[in-house]
This record gives sequence, structure tokens and C-alpha cells, in this order.
Amino acid sequence: MLKRLLLTAMVGCFTVTMSYAVDQSTSKVIIPVNRTAATSGQQMFTSYCAPCHGVDGRGHGPAASSLRTQPTDLTGLIKKNHGKYPDTHIVAVLQFGTDVPSHGSADMPVWGPILGKMSPTNPQDKSLRISNLSRYLETIQAK
Ligand code: HEC
Repeated sequence: MLKRLLLTAMVGCFTVTMSYAVDQSTSKVIIPVNRTAATSGQQMFTSYCAPCHGVDGRGHGPAASSLRTQPTDLTGLIKKNHGKYPDTHIVAVLQFGTDVPSHGSADMPVWGPILGKMSPTNPQDKSLRISNLSRYLETIQAK
């Protein structure tokens, strides 16, 4: 199925406002991408991920019902990976997107390019954001 992923970036004097849209025949989900601290995985998670994955990460955010694919329960990553937190996998998912069979059919945004736009002149900012997001996810794993 054809789906268009839109990313708009507007750089103002003091603020960066971006939005990510999942545009489907049946629904439209827009995630506003506001400025956050690269050092706070929790702040980034609450702003960028909670709309779909829920504040608690369990997959029941307000936008979840509009998606074709249900957001993953992010508190179960250790369990799914036989007791070990899959850091490398999560970093790759955030950088390049999820590896679903038909490329482009996922409702999960590819965050690399979006996070990269936040500090275009500082490539380390993007890696720091991705790494801190992954570290935050590690802290919300179910015991
Ligand atoms: C527009 C809704 C949406 C947003 C926003 C979103 N996700 Fe997702 N995410 C999904 C959906 C749907 C899936 C499950 C389908 C898939 O794997 O493609 C998913 C899957 C995942 C997975 C599981 C990948 C795997 O291989 O098991 C991770 C990790 C993840 N998201 C992290 C995040 C993080 C971190 C953020 C915020 C930076 C985020 N997501 C923002 C919808 C979203």
C-alpha cells in the first residue's frame, strides 16, 4: 500500500518546529516535533514517542488507534530478546526504521533524519539523542 511520509522542518530564530505525519488512506497522524534536550531520553520519549507508544511505553498512546500497525510494547524489549536489552537493534531502528517485510509499510517513523535536523551543524547531537533514547527505553523494561 502506498503511504506518504512527510517531514517538514521550519527553522525559526529561536525554535525548531517539525512535524512528522503518517498519512494513510484511512488516517492521518501528526506528531509535533518540538525542541528537546539531547541529554534527556525521557523528555524526548515523552515528546516524540508517547503519542503512539504511550507515556508508559506499553503501546497505547492517543495516536495508536489511528495506526494500521499497533505500536510495540516497549517495556517488553528485554523479554523478547531473551533477557538482554537489545541496544544495538534499538539504535538501528531509531536510525534507519524498523525492518518490516515491505519497506515503507511501517507506521513507525524513521527518526534518524528527523533527529539529525535538530542540530545540523553538530553530527554528534543526533547520535547522542539516539543513544539517550535507547538508554531511556532500557530503564522502562518490565522486570
Ligand atoms: C506514529 C507512531 C509512532 C511514533 C511517533 C513512534 N513509534 Fe515506535 N513504533 C510504531 C509502530 C506502529 C511500531 C510497530 C511496527 C513496526 O515495528 O514497524 C513501532 C515499533 C517500535 C520499536 C520496535 C522495533 C522492533 O524491532 O521491535 C521501537 C524500539 C520503537 N518503535 C521505538 C520508538 C521510539 C524510541 C520513538 C520515539 C523516538 C517511537 N518509536 C515513535 C509507531 C510509532
